[in-house]
Amino acid sequence: MESLTISEWLLTELKQHRFPAGMPAHRRVYELIRRAIASQHLTAGTRLPSTRSLSEALSLSRNTILAAFEQLHDEGYIVSRTGSGTCVATTPPEGFIELDDAQSNAGMDALHRSLGLSKRGMLAAGLADHPSHEVQPFAPGEDDFSTFPTQLWRRLLNKQWRAPQPAHLDYGHAGGHLPLRRAIANYLRMSRAVNLTVEQVLITAGTQQSIDLCARMLTDHGDRVWVENPCYWGARRLLEVNGLQLHPVTVDDEGMAPNNADFRRPPRLIYTTPSHQYPKGVVMSYGRRRLLLDYAASQDSWILEDDYDSEFRFEGRPLSSLQGMDQNGRVLYLGTFSKVMYPGIKLGYLVVPPDLAESFKRGLYELQRPGQVVIQAALAEFIEEGHFASHIRRLRQIYAERRRLLQKALAPVTRVGARLPPAGSGLHLVVELPPHADDVRVADLAAEQGLRVYPLSSYGVGDKVEKGLIVGYAYAATERIAPYGRILADVIQAALSY
Ligand SMILES: Cc1ncc(COP(=O)(O)O)c(C=O)c1O
Repeated sequence: MESLTISEWLLTELKQHRFPAGMPAHRRVYELIRRAIASQHLTAGTRLPSTRSLSEALSLSRNTILAAFEQLHDEGYIVSRTGSGTCVATTPPEGFIELDDAQSNAGMDALHRSLGLSKRGMLAAGLADHPSHEVQPFAPGEDDFSTFPTQLWRRLLNKQWRAPQPAHLDYGHAGGHLPLRRAIANYLRMSRAVNLTVEQVLITAGTQQSIDLCARMLTDHGDRVWVENPCYWGARRLLEVNGLQLHPVTVDDEGMAPNNADFRRPPRLIYTTPSHQYPKGVVMSYGRRRLLLDYAASQDSWILEDDYDSEFRFEGRPLSSLQGMDQNGRVLYLGTFSKVMYPGIKLGYLVVPPDLAESFKRGLYELQRPGQVVIQAALAEFIEEGHFASHIRRLRQIYAERRRLLQKALAPVTRVGARLPPAGSGLHLVVELPPHADDVRVADLAAEQGLRVYPLSSYGVGDKVEKGLIVGYAYAATERIAPYGRILADVIQAALSY
């Protein structure tokens, strides 16, 4: 590749390659060049364009290119020579993996063999996001841990440890600690109109594990699954790694919107987030709920309802769960304690139709060998003593205020063609950008200002890709929301105005 071609190729790849959400720009440039060297598209001795010319050609800051080059240099992929610029190294670095073509099967197979991973393992590792542990303001999915009542939680945990029952130290055999299952059943009946008995509730290690269990218990390799487009990456990955065929279904203002072509080949599973579509934030309409339920019943499909943040509804009357409207036992309801308690608690729940309860309980034990009964017992008391409900009320007030401040600070972006769709729930909002906008670049520009927002396009499945930014408001302190929001608004306005 000649210098000019390298810049052009990088520009195209940066736009088209599917990178993990939130991957910084320097890492993307590094990854593309590294793969090109490994696949010998860039051969030993090839001269790379200068950092200045690449920065201009790719519209990225020089520091971004320098950071990518620095890493390639440190790992031995490239060398710098005074007078002749930067070239691909003649001796490949240790651990260097040669690929025919990073995208081709042959290339992937070579990689599998050299690492000893299965295709499934490669899929999990290759698609995995590597979130930086340095959480930055506006990162979607991050909670405000400072509000968590740690002293109270410690007291409840200590109480369990003072005289632990032997069963609390064993594996969890029975689908979870019974008092916790009872507390969850009461909570869901009251607050989400879920139709259930305690027997239908299983305690899992969070939504990820619930989805994995559903995929293993209800599908076989190659089965078809409908996912929303755009889709929550956590669900998408688990479904793909389980060997399912993902069929993207468009999301419109009423939620998941299957059309006649979609209906032609019924899926085994339908994964959906009806209360607050992730990431677009839409609430599924009553009509759409009926449509999905009737279709699932007529085709014997299962619906996975991921109700991940329904606790945070700030305006309007909450629509009840899809499960609560289901007359035919086709819905499996998934909830998590990640958002209200803290993500590291790794506890969630799965409500299955009555006929599946016993098989799922056995499957959970055989496939995932659950435990953490002491924490489950403390959590049951946390809920039963009313702390869970009051913590939700408190968080709801805090997050509603943060949302209001963020919406106000971002309002100017509507002048340059961005849209702020109204939405009254959840922990993030969406700034919709026009189709020509490069949302990855806008997210990178925000990252340069210390703000981490996710490009909507990175959640796309299939051909239809929408542009926008996913902005989380739960993590940043209330008094910082307006100033950070103004910085983000400036970044968006500048990016869209030229
Ligand atoms: C759509 C959706 N579902 C579920 C979760 C929570 O998953 P877990 O319980 O595995 O932490 C998240 C977390 O961000 C999410 O965005």
